[in-house]
Amino acid sequence: MRTLTVNVARVDCVCQLWIGHKLIQRLPELLNRAAYTKVAIVADRGAEVWARRVAEAVKVENSLVMLFEGGERAKSVEGLDAVWRFLADIELDRKSLVLSVGGGATSDLVGFAAATYMRGIACIHIPTTLLAHVDASVGGKSGINYNGIKNLIGSIAQPAGVVIDVDTLSTLPKREIRSGFAEIVKHGLIQDASYFEHVTRKECTDWASEDLVQIIHRSCEIKRDVVQADETEQGLRKTLNFGHTIGHAIEGQALTCGISITHGEAVAIGMAGESYLSYRGGRISRSELETVVSGITQAGLPVKLPVALPVTALRSTLAHDKKNVGGAVKWTLLDRIGQAAFDISVSEDLILDSLNEIQPG
Ligand SMILES: NC(=O)c1ccc[n+]([C@@H]2O[C@H](COP(=O)([O-])OP(=O)(O)OC[C@H]3O[C@@H](n4cnc5c(N)ncnc54)[C@H](O)[C@@H]3O)[C@@H](O)[C@H]2O)c1
Ligand SMILES: [Zn+2]
Repeated sequence: MRTLTVNVARVDCVCQLWIGHKLIQRLPELLNRAAYTKVAIVADRGAEVWARRVAEAVKVENSLVMLFEGGERAKSVEGLDAVWRFLADIELDRKSLVLSVGGGATSDLVGFAAATYMRGIACIHIPTTLLAHVDASVGGKSGINYNGIKNLIGSIAQPAGVVIDVDTLSTLPKREIRSGFAEIVKHGLIQDASYFEHVTRKECTDWASEDLVQIIHRSCEIKRDVVQADETEQGLRKTLNFGHTIGHAIEGQALTCGISITHGEAVAIGMAGESYLSYRGGRISRSELETVVSGITQAGLPVKLPVALPVTALRSTLAHDKKNVGGAVKWTLLDRIGQAAFDISVSEDLILDSLNEIQPG
């Protein structure tokens, strides 16, 4: 088992991350059960098999387990209300613990419910998707979608711990593995060139489980370091948005056009587009751009849209990105493989060129 600690200066808290196999069985030794008056579980029904195992390991009775439907759809005011209602109905007090079991939608929803219930009670995430292992469950951002905008309402509150049991990936569809892997590739591109080279050596669904533990550990370490340096996203944390400016526009347009595209697919295409922008802006060379594009492809991730999406529509969706301040789009771009720069302005022509570049060949 590997461990990491997240130590943010803003608040006096240490969040422990455990990464390895068969960790759900070991929950009784990992959590300090005696420190809590009551333990409840809130889980996505899609991860029910894992939630049941957690309940068994920690001896949580059925009445203290809530299963909700819908993953992302539950990240709503109604979904949040249902979790708050459950926490209130079972009379959790300030010294209680909530265990969240599910993907990133679950850690976002349950993390926010726990951070706001009684002004914040302890929450430990037990993520069950690769995306949640390496990204969503680490760093303390939580929240819900509102008014058609992703994550518009939320908070930053570190969980008390994160138990990353890699065995949970055994039930996850390959497409969801690929989706999470895009964030792993991103970690290499923004922070660690040799890691990028390593993780893009082969198709991402071909890694043996033991190698995946190491990869998840390194990705969590990269995210931990960035979050520790800049918890509230004043600077460095913005580099984690690499690929996401175009990626979010793709997700928005895909939704409008009824096209199925995962977050990771959108981010992979977004990283290709934003690397092209880095090249055209004179930040990286042609050969670095080619290395990025062939690496993403070798990992089994897309660099072009599956079907054409109108450039003008993508461009106007970019304008609504939550990260914009005062209307201008601020980009995270590469200065080289393994190093990113943030808050970059780019000319309109180059933006349109990069949105053309990701259209199907
Ligand atoms: N807070 C953050 O820092 C942060 C970072 C990245 C993403 N996110 C959020 O994470 C969410 C995306 O996370 P996600 O990709 O995990 O999506 P998700 O939580 O919707 O899960 C994807 C699907 O997998 C199912 N599932 C979960 N675990 C499973 C398992 N072990 N076996 C089989 N099926 C399983 C779920 O039911 C769901 O249908 C988004 O809402 C995004 O905004 C948050
Ligand atoms: Zn992402």
